[in-house]
Parts: sequence; C-alpha cells; structure tokens
Amino acid sequence: MFLYKFVRDLQKKIEQIPGPSAIFYIIFIKRLLSKPELKIAKDIVYKIKQGTLIDLGSGTGYLSIEIAKRMPKLQIYGIDLSRKMVQIATHNAKGIRNILFKNNNAAELPFKDESIDFIVSTGSFHHWKYPVKVFNESYRVLKHNGEAWIYDGCYNLPEKETVRLMQKYSFFQYLIFSQIQRLHGFDWEEYHTKITSLLQTTKFKDKFRMELSDGWMKISLKK
Ligand SMILES: C[S@@+](CC[C@H](N)C(=O)[O-])C[C@H]1O[C@@H](n2cnc3c(N)ncnc32)[C@H](O)[C@@H]1O
Repeated sequence: MFLYKFVRDLQKKIEQIPGPSAIFYIIFIKRLLSKPELKIAKDIVYKIKQGTLIDLGSGTGYLSIEIAKRMPKLQIYGIDLSRKMVQIATHNAKGIRNILFKNNNAAELPFKDESIDFIVSTGSFHHWKYPVKVFNESYRVLKHNGEAWIYDGCYNLPEKETVRLMQKYSFFQYLIFSQIQRLHGFDWEEYHTKITSLLQTTKFKDKFRMELSDGWMKISLKK
C-alpha cells in the first residue's frame, strides 16, 4: 500500500517521465498498453475525420501515430513535458506527415483560442501537477462543441467490472493490468468524489461524463 502511494506521489512530483524511465516505459509498460490504445485510436477516428487534434502527454507517440496513419486529413500535435519522450515519438513517427510532437507543458498549450477540434490523453492525467490549468487550457483551445477524451487508470473497481475484466483477460494478464492501473491512475471512489469536484471547478463545469472503458476511466468533456 505504502509503495503504491509512494510511486503515485512521485509521478505527480516529477510530472514528466525523464530519460531513463522513458526507456523502461517503452520496453515494459508500453507493450502491455498498446492493445487498449489501439481501441481508443479506432474510437477516435470513428468520431473525427479531419481538423486538428492534440494528444496531451503523448509519450512515445503510439496513440497519435495510430490515429495519424488512419486519418491523413487530421493534423495531430503530440504534447509532452519530457524532451526524451518527444525525441522518441518524433523518431517513431518518421515519414508520417500529419503529425508533430512538441515539448510543452499541457498546462500552457502553444495554440490559439478556439483552434483545436479534439483533444485526447491516455495515462497522463495522474501526472499533472496543475490539472485544473490543463483542463482550462484545453477549454480555451477547443473550438465551440469541441471535445476532450481523457483516459487514465482506475483501481478498486466495482466487483462486477473486476469479474468482467478477469473473464476478458487471462488471469496473469489481469494481474499485471490491475497493478499498472494501481500505479497509473486514481481510485474508483476518488473519481466520483475528488476528481468530480475538481472538474466542476474547471471551465467545463458540469459538461463532462465518466465511464469505464475496458478497465480505464474515460472522462469525456464538451465545450
Ligand atoms: C504514463 S505516460 C503516458 C504516455 C502515453 N500517453 C501513453 O499512453 O503511452 C505519461 C506522459 O505524460 C507526460 N506528462 C506528464 N505531465 C505532463 C504535462 N503537464 N504536460 C505534458 N506532458 C506531461 C509524461 O512526460 C509522460 O510522457
């Protein structure tokens, strides 16, 4: 319990994933997460076909690249606080023309007001030191009716959901997945109390919805 709390607090303190951890992340964590991210990429291209999209905390660029390959008319910007992650993502996206990775803080987005059609983020929210600022920046840059889908880990799930996931994955896969969720996200209860209150203080106010998506929490926000 103490170890989980220690790691989660550390992630918030450091915020970005620094160089050596970025390599660890690619080798171990990323391999396990690529499948659920592919589903997210497919859901997004079903929703948006053209315009501009930002991926907040884009990491190695996997999600942005999967979207860009499927939707050449969509201009994608991956934003990450870690210079190393931006380097890796840029290398991974070689040859893809509708994608650009930028080394910026999601709390200070380098975009004009109302210039972006869609925002996505996976596994980054729990790192943000100033989450309200990130949500307000997202609100500022989104066009009217624009949407943001923020995915992050969720643990201590209701029993029904745990059983469903255990049936979907093998026992071993579920065991690893649940440990990753514990380190990368928030408690189910926390989403419905602290995170809900936090979102209500942002410019989105009550225009958001939370739902579980294959063990991840998806927060959909609308401008
Ligand atoms: C766990 S990784 C997830 C990466 C990727 N989205 C994925 O699903 O694989 C979290 C990423 O968020 C980045 N990050 C953390 N805080 C950030 C902030 N305030 N602005 C931009 N990026 C941030 C970290 O540097 C890291 O690359």
